Amino acid sequence: MLDSCLFVIFGATGDLAQRKLYPALYNLLIEGRLPEDFAIVGTGRRFETREAFINMVDESVSRFSRRKEPLFKDRFHRMLHYFRMDFANAAGFARLASFLTKLEETLQSQGNRVYFLAVAPEQFGPITEQLRSNGMVRYSPDTWQRLMVEKPFGRNLESARTLNDKISALFPEENIFRIDHYLGKEMLQNLVAIRFANSLFEPLWNNRFIDNVQISVTETEGIGTRVSYYETAGALRDVVQNHLLQMLTLTAMEPPVNLSAQAIRNEKVKVLQAIKPMTPSEIRVNVVRGQYAAGTSEGRAVVGYRDEEGVSPTSTTETFVAMRLFVQNFRWAGVPFYLRTGKRLARRSAQVIIEFKSMPGVLYFETEPRLRPNLLVIKVQPEEGVALQFNAKKMGATEGVVPVRMDFCQNCELPHNSPEAYERLIADAIRGDTTLFTRWDEVEYQWRFIDTIIKTWQDTEPGFPNYEAGTWGPEEAEALLRRDGRRWHIFD
Ligand code: BG6
Repeated sequence: MLDSCLFVIFGATGDLAQRKLYPALYNLLIEGRLPEDFAIVGTGRRFETREAFINMVDESVSRFSRRKEPLFKDRFHRMLHYFRMDFANAAGFARLASFLTKLEETLQSQGNRVYFLAVAPEQFGPITEQLRSNGMVRYSPDTWQRLMVEKPFGRNLESARTLNDKISALFPEENIFRIDHYLGKEMLQNLVAIRFANSLFEPLWNNRFIDNVQISVTETEGIGTRVSYYETAGALRDVVQNHLLQMLTLTAMEPPVNLSAQAIRNEKVKVLQAIKPMTPSEIRVNVVRGQYAAGTSEGRAVVGYRDEEGVSPTSTTETFVAMRLFVQNFRWAGVPFYLRTGKRLARRSAQVIIEFKSMPGVLYFETEPRLRPNLLVIKVQPEEGVALQFNAKKMGATEGVVPVRMDFCQNCELPHNSPEAYERLIADAIRGDTTLFTRWDEVEYQWRFIDTIIKTWQDTEPGFPNYEAGTWGPEEAEALLRRDGRRWHIFD
C-alpha cells in the first residue's frame, strides 16, 4: 500500500505544471496509482481563489492529458488545494507550513510530503532554505519528505555544486529526485530490459561486434515561448548535458549486480567516468554546433533563431550539437558514439541506433560491396519500439541480397497513448524509488564533460547561423561521420 502524502508544487501555475504535472497526476488517479489519502497543493501568486486554480488545472487536463475520463473529475477536484504566496516573502512560508499541517490533520497523511520545484533554479536555494527554517522537513523514522527538482540543474559544474550543496544540506540523497524526464520514457527503461533479458544481444554488445552507436534527439519545433531560458542555455546544456548523456549511460553500462536504484546508478556513473576527455583542439574537431536560419518546417515558413521574438540578433546560442565521443573502457574502446540534437530539424525523433560491424568482404559482399550494415534501432519516440535491420536474399531473384527489417512497435496497439514520462516519475517519487532519477555524482560527471566544451567554445566565433530550418543541421555534422567513412542513419 502506498503511504498517504501531500504533493506540494512550487510553481503551480507555470508551463511545466500545466503541460506535464496535472495531466500526469490525473492519469495516475484514473489508474489507481495514487495513495488513498492524497492531496495536491499548488502554490503561486497568480490566482486569488482555489476555484480559479481548479479551472486552470481542468483546462490543462483537457488540453494535455492522454486520458480525459470525466468520471474522475470530482475526485480530482477534491484533491486540489491552492495556497497563494510569493516565494520572495518569508512570512508566506510560515503560513504555508501551518496550512499544510492543518491539511494533514484532516487527511491523516502523517507528514509525508513530496515537494516539487517547478520554478527557476535561482529559486531552489531560497525555497529549500525556507522549508528548513519553517520546520517543513522533519527527520523522523516514520515519515518522509522528498524533493523533486526539475532541470536545469545548474549551468556548469560550479553552479550545479552550489545548488546541490544547498539542497543536500536539507535532504539526504535518497530523498532527492533530480528529474531527467527522458529516464521516465518507456523505451529507455526498455533499453535496459532488451539488453539484459536477451541472450541474442548482450554477447554482441561490445567493441568486437559493434561498429558505432548513434544517439539522437531531433526536434522540428523551435524554441517556442522559452526564449529567456534558451538564450542562456543552448542545446548543449538543454539536451546533451542530460538527456543524451543519460541515454548514453543506459546504452553503454555494464550489467548491474541487481535492479536496485543504487546498483543501476553505480554502473551508469562508471560510463560517465569513462568518457574520454577531449583537449580543446579535439573538441574543435569532434564537436559541431549550429544555429538555424530561416527555412521551412513541416510545410510552413519559419524564421531563423536570431529573428525569434526576444532573441538577440547577434545571438551565439547553439540550437544544434553533434559530437563524436569515446567511452574508454574494455567494452567500448575504439567504438565511436555519435550524439546529435537540435531544434528545427527535418524530423522529430529520439533513437538509439546500434550499427554492427560489416561482414568480411567475401561471398555476397564481393558482388554487393555496398550491402547495408545490421542495425538495431531503439525507437524512443514518436513511435516506440525496436527495429532490426538485416540482409536477406532478394525475393524471386537468383542472386542479390537486400536489407529487410523486423519491427516491433510498442505503442501501436495501446488503446491510449503510452504513459507519459512524468506519470512514471511522479509515481516513483511517491513510492520512494530513485532508480529513474539522476544521482548527484552522475550530474557532476555530466557537467565535467560539458564544461570542457563550453570553455572551448567561449574562445571561438561560431559562424552562425549555419543551417536552414527544416534540414538535418549543419554540413559539418555530416562531415563528422563522413570523415570516418560513416553516415547518420535515419530510421522511420
Ligand atoms: C527538454 C528540453 O528537457 O526536453 C526541451 O528543455 C526539449 O528543449 C525537450 O524540447 C524534449 O523532450 P521531449 O520529451 O519532448 O522529447
